[in-house]
Amino acid sequence: MAGAPRDPAYPELKTSHTMARAGRPWTDYKPPPAAPVWAAIEGLARYYILLAALELDIFDTLQRTGPATAERLAGELDVPTAHLASLLDSVVALELLDQYTDVYELNDAATRYLVTDGPATMAGLVPVAPGPHENWTRLAETVRNGRPATPIDDDPSAFYIPLVEGTFTTMYRVAMRADLKIRYTALAEPRILDLGAGAGAWAISMLHRCPDGTAVLNDLPEVLDVARAKTVEHDVADRCELRPGDFHTVDLEPDHYDIVVLGHVCRTEGASGARHLIARAFEALRPGGRVLVADYFPDPERKFNPHAVIMGTTMMASTINGFTFTHRAFAEWLTDAGFEALRLIEPIGFQQVFVATKPRRKP
Ligand SMILES: C[S@@+](CC[C@H](N)C(=O)[O-])C[C@H]1O[C@@H](n2cnc3c(N)ncnc32)[C@H](O)[C@@H]1O
Repeated sequence: MAGAPRDPAYPELKTSHTMARAGRPWTDYKPPPAAPVWAAIEGLARYYILLAALELDIFDTLQRTGPATAERLAGELDVPTAHLASLLDSVVALELLDQYTDVYELNDAATRYLVTDGPATMAGLVPVAPGPHENWTRLAETVRNGRPATPIDDDPSAFYIPLVEGTFTTMYRVAMRADLKIRYTALAEPRILDLGAGAGAWAISMLHRCPDGTAVLNDLPEVLDVARAKTVEHDVADRCELRPGDFHTVDLEPDHYDIVVLGHVCRTEGASGARHLIARAFEALRPGGRVLVADYFPDPERKFNPHAVIMGTTMMASTINGFTFTHRAFAEWLTDAGFEALRLIEPIGFQQVFVATKPRRKP
């Protein structure tokens, strides 16, 4: 450009396009990549590619057939080969299948998480984990109005029944591995209270490890039917009491339990509801008893754990009071309620649990 001052090509030597004069000098000359925008656009496609693969039974079919061509799989599934091949290639792009030339096979992630009987299957969770899909199409409206048009609070059991069936294997493993950190199996005859127990994964897993333990499982009546079936299936029904009702008001024995579990229940309740559940747990625990609060906790800057941050927006999109809260917020709430000896454990990746003790003496 005629008359414009010449400036060295190297950003670190520039004199005219400095931050002070003209904003961010590097981005003036080298625009930022559009990759984050594409990542957001592709997020939708990625989710529906995985959902379609599950709906079409691709993972279970490959488990049965072993490595197979698209043509062979198309015959098994009775779908057109070209369309199936397109989908299969995208599932490979998602790193959820392996492919060599025209042969596709399960990789380790698919074997573990996506076949129906995988050891940590999430096959049932994928369809329900984002909440009702139509709420995502109305997210801007939800932000404007400060509440979703069709919150799951209007019909909680319709949403929670498939959700808790889908999360059972994960939460069972979290509870199992939590023992490595907090040794609940060292308790002689632990009395466990699982508030908002869902399918009862926490209580059932702990009872499997504590042969003399007993548990009270609370949830909404229809959801508790899932827990009832699971306790029978897992052979612990005789040591479980099912206590239907709202966890904010259901009758609880004071100073009674060794362990109270608040497993992924606080983030639908808002700050005051979460604090109320923590206070209820405190009341119900015997001195020396421990509360376990499992949830997704953003860091104080809300930048370093996108999974927890996006989970917060997921809650906001589909519930009236749903948000996630930081480690710091929970630590303060637990301390304010009277708990001490706070610990944060991560029994399996991305599954964090606060553990806190009710003091033996009155505070
Ligand atoms: C995300 S699920 C967690 C289930 C289980 N605690 C776990 O960790 O797998 C939340 C559970 O809270 C239950 N819930 C929601 N509101 C409730 C209320 N007011 N009273 C009792 N349970 C409630 C739901 O029915 C659902 O089972």
